[in-house]
Amino acid sequence: MRVSDLRMGFVERLRDHLLESGYTIDGVRERLGDTAAAALSREELVPALRATTGGDPLAVLIRLFWLGASVPEVPPAVRDSGLVSLVDGAYRSTVHLQPWESDHYVVSDRKVRPGDPALRTDHVVGAGGASGNLAQLVTRRPVESALDLGTGCGVQALHLAGRASRTVATDVNPRAVELAELSWRLSGVHGVEGRVGSMFSPVSDERFDLVVSNPPFVISPGGRLTYRESGEEGDGFCRELVRQAARHLNPGGQAHFLANWMHVNGDDWRDRVGGWLAETGCDGWVVQRDVQDVAEYVELWLRDAAEQGTAAYAEHYDRWLGWFEAQKVEAVGFGWITMRNSGSLDPVVRIEQMTQQVELPVGDYVDDVLDAIAVAHRTLDLDSARLVLVDGVLDERIGLPGAEDPSRIVLRQTRGLRRSADVGTVEAALAGVCDGELAVGPLLNVIAELVGGDRVHADQLRPLIAEGYFTLA
Ligand SMILES: C[S@@+](CC[C@H](N)C(=O)[O-])C[C@H]1O[C@@H](n2cnc3c(N)ncnc32)[C@H](O)[C@@H]1O
Repeated sequence: MRVSDLRMGFVERLRDHLLESGYTIDGVRERLGDTAAAALSREELVPALRATTGGDPLAVLIRLFWLGASVPEVPPAVRDSGLVSLVDGAYRSTVHLQPWESDHYVVSDRKVRPGDPALRTDHVVGAGGASGNLAQLVTRRPVESALDLGTGCGVQALHLAGRASRTVATDVNPRAVELAELSWRLSGVHGVEGRVGSMFSPVSDERFDLVVSNPPFVISPGGRLTYRESGEEGDGFCRELVRQAARHLNPGGQAHFLANWMHVNGDDWRDRVGGWLAETGCDGWVVQRDVQDVAEYVELWLRDAAEQGTAAYAEHYDRWLGWFEAQKVEAVGFGWITMRNSGSLDPVVRIEQMTQQVELPVGDYVDDVLDAIAVAHRTLDLDSARLVLVDGVLDERIGLPGAEDPSRIVLRQTRGLRRSADVGTVEAALAGVCDGELAVGPLLNVIAELVGGDRVHADQLRPLIAEGYFTLA
């Protein structure tokens, strides 16, 4: 199927039919009910099939396009779409077409399910958990130009619609660009240009205000699935993505990537990923959200390709583990990489592990996170700076009942990244009084006199500023 070959007007007709039938996220959820919807999110189809036996337009669309089932009849808007084939007297969809946020639609290859034949190497994967994670991370700030590298089914470009005046979306897989174009047209989204090519080659010397990528980050020995394995050695694709991104960012431009990185025996993962950013000249924020040991990692991706239960499973598992062993890889980190072309001669990169639940979407406040990291690093004279406590920070005290003083004081963020920090009495008292009126150095001295805690120099507040407890007035 080529989108360009599809009959004029069919996409618009199909979109109208999808919307009129209530084939939207809310419509499907309501039709399935909580139990079947939850089962479907675990890829269990039986409850959803039971909830869609009516033969009405919505039930037909859910069965056909989401569950991948055959249906005896389809309306003309579906039959003429070029997206279904007639097999043994029943209609079967050639794609997976599912509603997405804001009345958008995402088109990908049919989902692979246990028992299906092995995936074709150019399989175009649909929007999944990782797609949603990246979309949550990307800045909400409107931009003039954006690049979605490795667009796949086109879902990130859909998320950028309305926020970027112009989006270029690239993929090394021509079928991905075809299906992505269909996703954009079916979603009524214009202003996205699809281009075929590897890495940054389709945008040679172009620069953007925003670059996003949910890349083929899976680390495997000679993996053959383009949607998840780049063919680069180890975590080399993510490394190159970071290294080359800086050359494609306008001044002030930002990049947001998901990535995987190897934990190699004896090395600190922070040095590894920090090394990727070191030469870029960009400010950076790297967050490790999860770590899996090599066995968990291999199982995850064998499951992803529906390989469990197949004859090749044990052999593939063994070969993959053997390769990790030869590379001295003990675990794999999953996380976010955010870069900003700040233009500073003194770029700052913060690398951290963060596993707590954070407020979503991070994109609403990711610019503030980068600002805080930069301010903490670059404000030369903190002593004379005026600070204010960031909204939503609470003071928690823990101690033995009846004790005069707490044994622990914690500043806790109730918003944003929801961090918590153990602090001393002086920092805690500062949090209670700093309203931006007085310079922080003299204020700290007065507080130390009053509360009698250890003297605190303004420079010692840098970590609390970088982590978003205090900000400049
Ligand atoms: C994990 S999928 C992401 C799809 C989609 N952007 C999302 O967020 O769900 C990674 C995509 O990168 C593409 N890809 C793989 N190797 C690439 C390369 N060398 N250059 C550009 N894209 C590549 C794959 O074809 C696939 O569509």
